[in-house]
Amino acid sequence: MSHTAHLETVVREIAEEMAQRTDRGEVASYIPELGNVDPGHFALVVTDAEGNVAAGGDADVPFSIQSISKVFTLTLALGMVGDRLWRHVGREPSGNAFNSIVQLERERGVPRNPFINAGAIAVTDVILSGHQPREAIGEILRFMRFLAGDPSIVIDEKVAASEKRTGFRNTALANYMKSFGVVENPVDFTLGVYFHHCAIAMTCRQLATAGRFLAYSGKNPSTGLSVVSAERARRINALMLTCGHYDGSGEFAYRVGLPGKSGVGGGIMAIAPGKASIAVWAPGLDKAGNSHLGRIALEALTKRMGWSIFGV
Ligand code: DON
Repeated sequence: MSHTAHLETVVREIAEEMAQRTDRGEVASYIPELGNVDPGHFALVVTDAEGNVAAGGDADVPFSIQSISKVFTLTLALGMVGDRLWRHVGREPSGNAFNSIVQLERERGVPRNPFINAGAIAVTDVILSGHQPREAIGEILRFMRFLAGDPSIVIDEKVAASEKRTGFRNTALANYMKSFGVVENPVDFTLGVYFHHCAIAMTCRQLATAGRFLAYSGKNPSTGLSVVSAERARRINALMLTCGHYDGSGEFAYRVGLPGKSGVGGGIMAIAPGKASIAVWAPGLDKAGNSHLGRIALEALTKRMGWSIFGV
């Protein structure tokens, strides 16, 4: 069997196996709009170096990318201010929940890493500086459309509004960072941009394409277009490996063995460096707020393809 045919078979098998499972986790309900999503969905899309796409399940159904957007805002912010970004946010795993506030006081308002909510809000604030919120949101959306090669990607305004209405904890985090001067813009503006980029809706097909630059040293191998340097791509992958699943990051590395970023919409983007860019979606979450079946599907995929970065 050719490599592509093998990959297609593995993806189809995993999608079938996941459709049968009854342990589907719990959909996020703290953002009311996400609580309406059917936990029966499942999608898995893999794009390889040649640009072949293997897709299973609901590969063309858009979902809320939520925290997966934080990989792309990190990329944008690094492009804008380079290493000065690290004055606003750290690079260590937090060992705490994604929305935790406890470390912020001890560490004087500088969040542990760019993927916990506080860290992502600090990154969004850097992107916003010198712009109007509307321009910053447009810039992030344009970047997503460019990376996915798809101008049809939009923000789900209902999800953004739902999160704004109920985002008391993020508001607390942002105000707390503002008190230390880590957030520079008006808190409402920074949070508005943050809620909107979390509410970007994408399909697994679009997300797998958007992640390709991270799998191939900063370049999309099909277009040859460079997004970031090879060094930056490597470092973003390192952060995804260590921090991409919050206090579930160790377990994800142990079981899947790939850099990956989850979102409370149930999506995960994972990168097999040099081999593939992967997107999976299963809305039900585990206790750490990461997709339950998404992780199980990725574990099966890396095992069957021999893709763990730690060896077969
Ligand atoms: O700020 C929040 O809580 C959400 N917009 C994003 C959190 C999230 O996706 C955590 N991921 N698993």
